[in-house]
Amino acid sequence: MAERTYAEQLALAARVTEPAIRAAIAALRLPAGSHGLDAGCGIGTHAAWLAEATGSRVTGLDVNRDNLATARRRIAEAQLGHRIALDEGSLFDPPYADGSFDWLWCADTLWPVVVPDPVAVLERLRRLVRPGGTVALSYWSSQQLLPGYPQLEARLGLAFTEHTHYCRIGTPDAHHLRALGWLQRAGLVGARARTFVAEHQAPLSPALRESLAFCFEMLYGELEPGLSADDRAVVARLCRADSPECVLDVPGYHAWITYTVFDGRRDQA
Ligand SMILES: C[S@@+](CC[C@H](N)C(=O)[O-])C[C@H]1O[C@@H](n2cnc3c(N)ncnc32)[C@H](O)[C@@H]1O
Repeated sequence: MAERTYAEQLALAARVTEPAIRAAIAALRLPAGSHGLDAGCGIGTHAAWLAEATGSRVTGLDVNRDNLATARRRIAEAQLGHRIALDEGSLFDPPYADGSFDWLWCADTLWPVVVPDPVAVLERLRRLVRPGGTVALSYWSSQQLLPGYPQLEARLGLAFTEHTHYCRIGTPDAHHLRALGWLQRAGLVGARARTFVAEHQAPLSPALRESLAFCFEMLYGELEPGLSADDRAVVARLCRADSPECVLDVPGYHAWITYTVFDGRRDQA
């Protein structure tokens, strides 16, 4: 895989996920002019989309200084500095008083492989929002990036789940797509799960082509030991950006990824 910083990887992935994330944010109907927390804000992409969509103030929290430095630069460039504040700290021990926020957004950050008891973390996050406030967890939940190659894509999907640390969890309930139950057990009311799609089709802009090629690297780049020699050869042919047979250049190519958002409200009591 090409050497890229974590911040660069997040920026590349965000081009692919943007339509799904923006649709998810719109569907949450967060109150205009409110103040929310983006827990695990990365380079501030979602914080900016949340601020734009809702006219809200957003505080971004992250443990990674490099990501926060990139977030700071991007937010200044977007002239959103008056609406977005950034704090260094952990969502496992958030540096805020109870009821500090109207809502909380947390994307691709609360992984059971990192935290053994996500329900306990959610109980703490629930108290960070005011009574009636929304807590939303979102996760990349599926994709179709290789139309026309269903068997290959299924084998790659299996190899990914077997190889990737956050998929190799002990019990089904510890899988991130069981977050609806976590929200319910953490005392959030009206918990629901909704899935949003981001679709892209040929002809791809150079930026989107680069981002989709990055997704191939991100998802398949480390799977080689689990693949047959034949599959390795086909993946190299179809998925390398510099391959003359790269699938991204096929007329009629299209791809989709989904995000599943789990949200619930803090009880009014
Ligand atoms: C996969 S990235 C997602 C970033 C952003 N939410 C997005 O979707 O673009 C995960 C982010 O969570 C941050 N992170 C990991 N553990 C964290 C913790 N305990 N508290 C706060 N942030 C954390 C990482 O530094 C990284 O920026």
